[in-house]
Amino acid sequence: MSLRNMVNAGEDGAERPDRGNSDGTDVAYYRGRLLEEIDLAELAILNGAQRRARLERVMGTLVSREGPVLSTRERTALIRRVVDEALGLGVLEPLLADESITEIMVNGPNNVFVERNGKVERVPITFAGEQQLYQTIDRIVSTVNRRVDESSPMVDARLPTGERVNVVVPPLSLDGPTLTIRRFPRPYSVEELIERGSIDMAIGLLLSACVRAKFNVLVSGGTGSGKTTLLNALSAFVPDGERIVTIEDAAELTLRQEHVVRLESRPANIEGKGQITIRELVRNSLRMRPDRIIVGEVRGGETLDMLQAMNTGHEGSLTTVHANSADDAIMRLETLASMSELRIPFEALRDQINNAVDVIVHLARYPDGSRRIAEVAAVTSRRREAFELTTLADFDLAPLTADGIVRGGYRHLPLPPIVAQRLARAGESVPAHFGVAAPDEQLIVRAAH
Ligand SMILES: Nc1ncnc2c1ncn2[C@@H]1O[C@H](COP(=O)(O)OP(=O)(O)OP(=O)(O)O)[C@@H](O)[C@H]1O
Ligand SMILES: [Mg+2]
Repeated sequence: MSLRNMVNAGEDGAERPDRGNSDGTDVAYYRGRLLEEIDLAELAILNGAQRRARLERVMGTLVSREGPVLSTRERTALIRRVVDEALGLGVLEPLLADESITEIMVNGPNNVFVERNGKVERVPITFAGEQQLYQTIDRIVSTVNRRVDESSPMVDARLPTGERVNVVVPPLSLDGPTLTIRRFPRPYSVEELIERGSIDMAIGLLLSACVRAKFNVLVSGGTGSGKTTLLNALSAFVPDGERIVTIEDAAELTLRQEHVVRLESRPANIEGKGQITIRELVRNSLRMRPDRIIVGEVRGGETLDMLQAMNTGHEGSLTTVHANSADDAIMRLETLASMSELRIPFEALRDQINNAVDVIVHLARYPDGSRRIAEVAAVTSRRREAFELTTLADFDLAPLTADGIVRGGYRHLPLPPIVAQRLARAGESVPAHFGVAAPDEQLIVRAAH
């Protein structure tokens, strides 16, 4: 039985309530009555706000006519809840309407958390029960023609409105249905990131020069550290006129250039068929004559294809990887590339990575919820050498004060001559804060481990 049927079957028994609270029974009863009263065809031609106003009016009349005696506050709450549910996402509607919320996390009907300004907090919102939560989930996933039930208990989807939705239901999730909604990330420009203190002006200048000069850039960071956001901001420096192909699992990038081809992978359908992976898209993109390839995130065998593309005429490509440090990022590339079915000798793989990746930008989330660049490092090892990273800039964290706000400043180091020369060849200047290292100058170089 689909969730929708399950929910509807459960609703048949909804009795007319005799008490004036907006609990699940009341809401279910009035939603049923509301649906009987309104003309769906008429509703379809109204826009979102008009539709809500219309439903609220009808619901107001219903409550006055049939309902128990309620205080104004109770009455408003009941009307809101019924209309919210009839319109779609029930108790989640107010959270979705709140622009300051970037993520909504529902762990079973009684635990709802949100992320606001980078901090996770619990909100005093609960579902009337598991059934109501199932219904909300079903509404969400059915808008993208997917289904959630015991036989396919896990769904990851992007809504037409851009939100990314992940659902896991029992038996996989042990404490009831789990729903995670990630709001479509707001595209920040590099200037805005500078204003927020996530990067400084000098680093912004350096990275823009690197992108224009066709350095291959790898953005790394933990979950939700702002990788996609930075990738999107950096993409703005790709000169107009270059053909860009973007490849993502869930299209989040919003490039401002005109000549962009956007590709999105596809999960298998209900019968387990039709899957198109990032890997297949990367391979196919090479036949599309791209100047640059931007892959939202590498997390498997496609890493090898991406490295090959970066080495063979698609310099200036950008991607992200999940990693805890710049060192970890370059090591992970090795692991991920070896997940490909192509067996490449270890040294040859090193060679590919050393040649492909020019700069790693590592992002971190700090205890106060802020996200910023923690390090910019150049890959200065060559050919089959063990990986070596040279720090170009890093964030120097000041001791934490009682207010819990993270403070600190960026340190800028002279660029290794090889990096500076490459910028110069592309007609880019070295930002003054960095300068170029003298041939015998000690740089902050380390073997990645
Ligand atoms: N520098 C920033 N300042 C404030 N908010 C940010 C910043 N960077 C990203 N965010 C916000 O943080 C959330 C996560 O960002 P983003 O999707 O870019 O992270 P991610 O590292 O790509 O996440 P994932 O690991 O899920 O792919 C988004 O809501 C985004 O708007
Ligand atoms: Mg991302």
